[in-house]
Amino acid sequence: MKKNILVVTFSPGGGCLELADAATVILDRAGYEVECLDITYADDREAACGLEIHVDLMILIAPVYLRHLPPPVEYFISRSQLFVEKAALVLGYGSCGVGCAPEEARKLFDLAEVPLCRIMTCPLPHTFADCVEEKQVLPDSLGDVGRFILSVVADDDREEKPIEKRSFDIIGKLPYNITKRLAFGFPKTVSADCTFCGTCAKVCPTEAITLDKFKIDSERCIGCSACVRACPKGAKSINRYPWTKAILRRGFAEVKYPEEITVRK
Ligand SMILES: Cc1cc2nc3c(=O)[nH]c(=O)nc-3n(C[C@H](O)[C@H](O)[C@H](O)COP(=O)(O)O)c2cc1C
Repeated sequence: MKKNILVVTFSPGGGCLELADAATVILDRAGYEVECLDITYADDREAACGLEIHVDLMILIAPVYLRHLPPPVEYFISRSQLFVEKAALVLGYGSCGVGCAPEEARKLFDLAEVPLCRIMTCPLPHTFADCVEEKQVLPDSLGDVGRFILSVVADDDREEKPIEKRSFDIIGKLPYNITKRLAFGFPKTVSADCTFCGTCAKVCPTEAITLDKFKIDSERCIGCSACVRACPKGAKSINRYPWTKAILRRGFAEVKYPEEITVRK
């Protein structure tokens, strides 16, 4: 019997989407029944939570945010109706490390009564606001994800990658809402250029931007910068603090990039 596989992704910056696309193509070529569900935006996530998902294997491909699972991913796992034989998780991360995201995922899948069989962590080169023209996925990340996924499908545990312990202590020690503010800042609207077209509100994965006044709700904003990238007028930018840049420089310097990818610092 052919295995039925669902690849789920959350990816405001597009890095994890590239991984998910690659995974889908590989599985399709290998002859599996595979579908992809993109839960980046709130409406799609809401719709997905109303579905009964019946599959043999669910592969969730999502980034690490401040060493945690992004809140929309937590929401999806805890609110969806999952009738899933087993799940595998691919976590894309920038430079600060994966923190407690894998343990959080384990707990949530446990509560949803879905066995999370394997976790892979996968380095991605970009930061949130700097990914506009950059290549987002390291060339060997695609291959690693492909091998990981085929080995999960084949129930072969030999290729499991250890979870990387890349430490960046400030982020690990402070509460989520404080580190979010300190390290990542918030998008702001440069109002003279804003035409109030609503694109930012439409793409916001956490519905943090209200359509009436286009204000950004700082409690809901996860700093992913989807709005900055989507704005047709370039009217939004991320409000980064001087220490944000220093933190990012330090953090991202730890990642080894292949030469052909230039990372703006
Ligand atoms: C708000 C935010 C928080 C992040 N926190 C972390 C982190 O704690 N550790 C890390 O290694 N990378 C972190 N990153 C980097 C992301 O994991 C990386 O940029 C990833 O590629 C984003 O996924 P996407 O391109 O699919 O949206 C963070 C990125 C954002 C936007």
